[in-house]
Amino acid sequence: IPRKTFQTSEAASQAVAQEIATLIRGKPKPVLGLATGGTPLKLYAELIRLHREEGLSFAHVTTFNLDEYCGLDREHPQSYWNFMWRHLFDHIDIDPANVHLPSGTVAEQEINNHCAAYEAAIMNAGGIDYQVLGIGRTGHIGFNEPGSAIDSKTRHVLLDPITREDAAKDFGGIEQVPTGAITMGCGTILSARRIALLAFGAAKAAVVDAATTGPVTDQLPASFLQQHPATTFFVDQELADAS
Ligand code: F6R
Repeated sequence: IPRKTFQTSEAASQAVAQEIATLIRGKPKPVLGLATGGTPLKLYAELIRLHREEGLSFAHVTTFNLDEYCGLDREHPQSYWNFMWRHLFDHIDIDPANVHLPSGTVAEQEINNHCAAYEAAIMNAGGIDYQVLGIGRTGHIGFNEPGSAIDSKTRHVLLDPITREDAAKDFGGIEQVPTGAITMGCGTILSARRIALLAFGAAKAAVVDAATTGPVTDQLPASFLQQHPATTFFVDQELADAS
């Protein structure tokens, strides 16, 4: 997998933002796949800057987020819906009707229908042109934890204990972290036409090395990206120095 190394995470985020801006300016109805978490914050700040200072319009952009925690409603401070509005959508001219995240509060007996509808909505939008990814310590992409199938679709999943541990500080304790989520599948992600995985800092070096150069295995779902024809890992110097 090609890896682009930048001096800082800001510079890496700006490079990804430029690719996204080029897509948005060149296509009438571009479709973005978006991630949450700490990693894409500088990317979203740069997209907001491009909107404010360089006239980049999101009026015709459609977005699909990777995942949402089960049990959290939209207003919950840790919901990914809340995260996306706070860090991006509130600050750009996107049409709220074009924003999509899985629901964290859909009734249990409706989850399968909800997931199938999410897949159908992605298809109806024309598929994802550009998917932004982070990577978890478990090697997850979205919330596809070890054991996820390469052709998996949007579905309900249980979070790995390591993932819940990493989220504990945001929730004020591991017992507050939801046990489940709805996530796009590995197959959903691999259907995107272009994928940018962002990973910053020494702590991500080992999992990035394993994903990019180790065996392709469901024990490290990010390794599936080796089979995608247009994936690039955007990393910072700190990660490169530790790998
Ligand atoms: C978020 C997501 C996750 C994160 C990953 C890294 O929507 O799907 O895969 O990208 O857990 O999280 P951070 O960036 O907080 O290290």
